[in-house]
Amino acid sequence: MKNQDSILIFGSSGQIGKSLIRKFTKNNYKVIAVTRSIHRKGYQIKTQSNYGYLELEEIKSFTEESISKLMEKSSICINLIGILYEKKNNHFNLIHTDLPSLLSKVASKNSLKQFIHLSALGIESATDSKYATSKINGEKKVRQNFPSSVILKPSLVYSVDDNFTTNFMSLLSILPVMPLYYSGKTKFTPIHVSDLANIIFRIVEKKISSETIECIGPEVITFKEIILKILKSINKKRLLFSLPLFLAKINAKLFELMPKPLLTMDQLILLKYDNVISNKYKTNFDLKMMANKKFDDEINLYSFNWTNGGQFSKKKDNGDK
Ligand SMILES: NC(=O)c1ccc[n+]([C@@H]2O[C@H](COP(=O)([O-])OP(=O)(O)OC[C@H]3O[C@@H](n4cnc5c(N)ncnc54)[C@H](OP(=O)(O)O)[C@@H]3O)[C@@H](O)[C@H]2O)c1
Repeated sequence: MKNQDSILIFGSSGQIGKSLIRKFTKNNYKVIAVTRSIHRKGYQIKTQSNYGYLELEEIKSFTEESISKLMEKSSICINLIGILYEKKNNHFNLIHTDLPSLLSKVASKNSLKQFIHLSALGIESATDSKYATSKINGEKKVRQNFPSSVILKPSLVYSVDDNFTTNFMSLLSILPVMPLYYSGKTKFTPIHVSDLANIIFRIVEKKISSETIECIGPEVITFKEIILKILKSINKKRLLFSLPLFLAKINAKLFELMPKPLLTMDQLILLKYDNVISNKYKTNFDLKMMANKKFDDEINLYSFNWTNGGQFSKKKDNGDK
């Protein structure tokens, strides 16, 4: 029998997944968290929930049968599975198009009440990016297979648990100089992970359906401004310089050889496009779902880990009291 209040989360061990587990279980929802490896990810997932509200499920291969078995126990499904770069058998089309297509098809067959799918902001014009086109095609498949689904398109999602601000804090701590791609002019609308979790929680509580929503924070900030804010927050001064595109491409090609690349050719292509609202869809603000956490305030809560002296560091007076 289905538990009407249980939420099935695919990709639950990521930044957004962990935040959602905290939000839902704290509010008395039962969460079924799916991961490919309980052995590797179980300890991180288990600590996010209060006792008794979490069930952990392992999935070895994504087949109609294995997915259906998980969906039988649930009424709401959230798909957070995504990758930032391709490696070995992990291809964008497989993860961002074929998998959401299968999940939404099985969700429809199992008559789930809600299907919430995470796509991305600012990808409509980026037709030369494999990441962007795979996400767009995924959106189309989800809408086709589960017409009342909610598709969310967040800008950059950040927190102490992210792969963005924390990576830059680490890099800027050790590098004397920092290259800027496209002169650092690309615009972002960063949203804090807890604000995004609140939005997803409201979508479930209010039983919102058949919407595509662009999820943004309160500020539009350029890439250069983000780097400057991070530098200020970790109390460091670094030389920033614009890297010509041909050198940026060589840079990306070399980084691609790393096991966890800092930059890929596809990400470089994507950085050409502003990560701002398209005006094609409603935003969370249009739906009165606010996201008010400011980038400076939030990164200041964890940046001390990267300052000289860590938590015992004294911030220098930057003269802007
Ligand atoms: N973070 C952002 O700034 C941002 C911005 C826009 C859109 N989004 C989208 O929001 C969603 C969630 O983002 P996130 O930051 O929480 O992602 P994340 O931290 O990278 O986590 C994604 C999850 O996907 C699962 N996964 C990765 N590769 C997989 C594969 N080959 N097969 C099956 N599962 C796989 C992993 O789960 P297991 O290892 O536990 O199986 C992982 O926990 C993604 O779709 C992402 O594209 C994120």
